Amino acid sequence: MRIDIITIFPDYFTPLDLSLIGKARRSGLIDVRLHDLRRWTYDRHHTVDDTPYGGGPGMVMKPEPWGEALDEITADADAGTPRLILPTPSGLPFTQQDAVRLAKEPWLIFACGRYEGIDARVAVDAAQRMPVEELSIGDYVLNGGEVATLVIVEAISRLLPGVLGNVESITQDSFAPGTMDNLVEGPVYTKPPVWRGHEVPPILLSGHHAAIDRWRRDEALRKTARNRPDLIRRLDPESLDKRDREV
Ligand code: ADE
Repeated sequence: MRIDIITIFPDYFTPLDLSLIGKARRSGLIDVRLHDLRRWTYDRHHTVDDTPYGGGPGMVMKPEPWGEALDEITADADAGTPRLILPTPSGLPFTQQDAVRLAKEPWLIFACGRYEGIDARVAVDAAQRMPVEELSIGDYVLNGGEVATLVIVEAISRLLPGVLGNVESITQDSFAPGTMDNLVEGPVYTKPPVWRGHEVPPILLSGHHAAIDRWRRDEALRKTARNRPDLIRRLDPESLDKRDREV
């Protein structure tokens, strides 16, 4: 997968050199290209923002550098058509389902806005040539799209074949489509069996795989009910068995 990231702070993305994503980049599974938006500015101060029309606080990102950046990056016709992602608190909520969907795309471009956002005509203009989506990573406001882009890139990258060592762990994750739709994972344990007087639930030491699977599902249902009642309401009744309903 190819990922282009346009930002005024390329240094925000040094974490993409680390751990499993760093390894996936070095092995060629993910091709991340960082672009400094100021490359497409021509004044002495490399200005990327201006005051908002209509008044109000803060500054808005000027459309011209964005337009040129997108034109130049997408001029690589051999690479096909990219999908443009605009992280913004006013976007559609980004979920695990979106991560699964976007992991199937060959080429994504992230446009990291700062200040009060990017002039709205940039998205309108880009949409004439490529699919565009605005995504929010949660109901809070960050200083810019950089951290949101890191979140989305990590959620997508770990789903790409070959990035994670243990593929099975993906199907057990909170929100995993098919098995964990609208469920969060329950507690996990490792050795020693007793630590500071706290015991690991004996069922996990029983070697009884069917019983362990059942226990894990019960715990996932309990934890979801406790922390995410909004998700419990969204559970598909068809996906629940008799025992699920008793938990
Ligand atoms: N930019 C600033 N806040 C954001 C958020 N919550 N999600 C996505 N992009 C953002």
